[in-house]
Amino acid sequence: MPCTRALIGRDLRGGSKQVAKFSTKSEAKKGGFPILQGHPAAEQHAEEVVESQHNIQRNVNNQKKEFKIYRWSPNHPHQKPFLQSFFLDLSSCGPMVLDALQKIKSEDDSSLTYRRSCREGICGSCAMNIDGTNTVACRKPIDSDTSTATVITPLPHMYVIKDLVVDLTHFYHQYKLIEPWLKTKKPPPGGKEYRQSTAERWRLDGLYECILCACCSTSCPSYWWNPEEFLGPAALLHAYRWISDSRDDFGDERLQALTDKEVRLYRCRTIKNCTATCPKSLNPANAINKMKAKHRFARPSEKSDNEDQRA
Ligand code: SF4
Ligand code: SF4
Ligand code: FES
Repeated sequence: MPCTRALIGRDLRGGSKQVAKFSTKSEAKKGGFPILQGHPAAEQHAEEVVESQHNIQRNVNNQKKEFKIYRWSPNHPHQKPFLQSFFLDLSSCGPMVLDALQKIKSEDDSSLTYRRSCREGICGSCAMNIDGTNTVACRKPIDSDTSTATVITPLPHMYVIKDLVVDLTHFYHQYKLIEPWLKTKKPPPGGKEYRQSTAERWRLDGLYECILCACCSTSCPSYWWNPEEFLGPAALLHAYRWISDSRDDFGDERLQALTDKEVRLYRCRTIKNCTATCPKSLNPANAINKMKAKHRFARPSEKSDNEDQRA
C-alpha cells in the first residue's frame, strides 16, 4: 500500500502550484495519482484538492473564505469556548486546512493553538474535527466554496487543553495497555532475527499503517460513553496488529487480556464510525470483529495461529 509520504513527496509538494498542473478532477482521477491506487481516502483527498484549486483559480474575484475556529484558553478559565471567525484569501494560501491554520497563526493571531508536525499524514498530530468530520488537517483540502464557512473544532468528547489541542493522556494509556511490542517465548533461530514469509508480512497490511491520530476513537459513540473501560478502535486495531504478527508468541494471552473484562472489546457495537472517518483508509471495525470471532470460536486449548504455523 502506498504511504502518504509518497503522496505528498511526489504529487503535492509545492502546494497549489503542483496541484494546478491537473486541470480537472477527472483528469486527476484518470492518471494523475497512480501512486495512490488502493488508498481510497488519499485518492479522494487528492481529487478534492485538484477540484478545490481549480475552483479557486476560476473564482479570482471572490476568494475570501471564512474559517470559524474553536477557541478556549486556560488563561481565561471562566470565559466560555467560542467560535472565532478568520477570513483568508485562498489565492495566497496552500491547498490544505493545515495551510490555512498556519497562515492564520502567522499573519492574524499567533495565539491560535493546534498540534502539527509532519504536514504529510504521518505523525497524526493535526487530528481535529473539520466541518463535522474527524480527520488530519494536513490532508484535508480546503473547501473552495466561499459562500459557507469551514468550521474547525477539537476532536469530540475529549478534554480541551487549549483551542484545538486535546488531552490524549488516557488514549495513550490505553494504547500502552495492549503492550504494543513484539513478545516472544524463544530466541530467534540463529540468534539473529525473527523472520517472516511474504505472506505473513502481508497479514499486517491495513494494520501497521495506523498513525494513532485518534480520529476513530473520538468518533465512536461507544467510546464516548465508556472511555474508561472500552479500549476504543485505535488501541484495538493495534492489539489485532500484534495478534496477527507471525513472530509474536502471545496471541492467546493478548486476546485473553482483552476479554478478561468483556467491555474492553465487546462494547463495540459495529457502528463503524471509526472505519468511515479514518484518514488512512484503515478498517478498525473489521479488526475488532475478527478478534471477537477469534475469541468466540477458539477452543480454550487451541494454540494461536502463529504457533500453529510454526509447528
Ligand atoms: S485507525 Fe485510522 S483513525 Fe484510528 S488512530 Fe489509526 S490512523 Fe487514526
Ligand atoms: S465499529 Fe465499534 S469501534 Fe468502530 S465506531 Fe462502531 S462501536 Fe466504535
Ligand atoms: S501534521 Fe502530521 S499528520 Fe498532519
